Amino acid sequence: KKVVLAYSGGLDTSIIIAWLKETYGCEVVAVAANVGQKDELDGLEAKALATGASQYIELDLKKEFVEDFIFPAVKANAVYEGKYLLGTSLARPIIGKKLVEVAKEVGADAICHGCTGKGNDQVRFELAIKAFAPDMPIIAPWRVWDIKSRDDEIDYAEARNIPLKINRETNYSKDKNLWHLSHEGLDLEDPANEPKYDEILELGVSPEQAPDKPTYIEITFEKGIPVALNGEKMDGVALIEALNKVGGANGIGIIDMVENRLVGMKSRGVYETPGGTILYKAHADLEEITIDKYTQHFKQKIALELADILYNGYWYSPLTEALNAFVDKTQENVNGTVKLKLYKGNIIGAGMTSDSTLYSEQTASFGEDEDYNQADSAGFINLYGLPIKMIAQAKAKKA
Ligand code: ARG
Ligand code: SIN
Repeated sequence: KKVVLAYSGGLDTSIIIAWLKETYGCEVVAVAANVGQKDELDGLEAKALATGASQYIELDLKKEFVEDFIFPAVKANAVYEGKYLLGTSLARPIIGKKLVEVAKEVGADAICHGCTGKGNDQVRFELAIKAFAPDMPIIAPWRVWDIKSRDDEIDYAEARNIPLKINRETNYSKDKNLWHLSHEGLDLEDPANEPKYDEILELGVSPEQAPDKPTYIEITFEKGIPVALNGEKMDGVALIEALNKVGGANGIGIIDMVENRLVGMKSRGVYETPGGTILYKAHADLEEITIDKYTQHFKQKIALELADILYNGYWYSPLTEALNAFVDKTQENVNGTVKLKLYKGNIIGAGMTSDSTLYSEQTASFGEDEDYNQADSAGFINLYGLPIKMIAQAKAKKA
């Protein structure tokens, strides 16, 4: 018997190796997906093998994560409940898909993940697994075992000499990748508490700590995809890393929210998305001059739908493909350069240019112009306002 385990080296997956072996007498293949979590991957191989895995596989998914998941979300401007830039939601489908690939390669009998039975991640992983291996058995220890709390877990680990990076006081539930870092649990579980930003923040500083001088940056887009920073061509991974740095240093992209989970409960989280917040803003600004009014408006509805799809783990579906095809069509003209001023948590527009701009200075101007005849407005307003006029007349008749 062989089980492929989605392995992060965190508390949950650390003890799962031991638990799987004790419970099923199986071999465990630990799979670490590199989606840009950096130092969290250090020493993982040694740790996995020391704690009982028979094999450790690390997959570099950064490029695919950016191109096939992050960029579609940017192009759509997909935001969940007006705030969350979907950092964890975006990474789950790609990890789920890769787990299936590995499971098939090594001839595994099941796939195991360390998500709790109370969250969104279990759904996202399992829907992705079902999309590529509909009959693959899935093991979710949190829904089965007797361990009921973080403290139980730590006890279990300590009894088996499983080394832990964390201690009892600071074990926020975190999820880190190239796009974001999330924090949940502990004092954050009470929405009355202000987050302890000075202790929590890892990708940057709070606005108070940011420099007193603004930083200017320029992002260039081609068909809705960022291709250069400050005039320098860059691949997506490098560009997001660079934006994380400059955004983090300026206190940008810190979100504190209570969100509605797919499984029904409300939950409170703090998210750090410095580069992503800048990218969304730059992209949305550029759309203001490169997309026509009605497409721009319709696109906002698609963005809501795609955000729900991503959040709810329904990525591998015909609906996603259809909506992404729509979004891609809208991006053909989204070319140009956006200049932004970063200052103490704020992103302030500082001008933009585009060869495909729809903006006409001549038409918008208060001066003379050829395409817009002010006399046309009188008739337009009469017809556009006809319903309002009729309502008012009917009211007057009754009175
Ligand atoms: N609440 C966020 C979401 O559902 C973040 C989840 C973080 N996941 C984790 N395993 N710590 O996308
Ligand atoms: C978990 O419960 O495993 C993490 C949080 C979530 O999935 O929403």
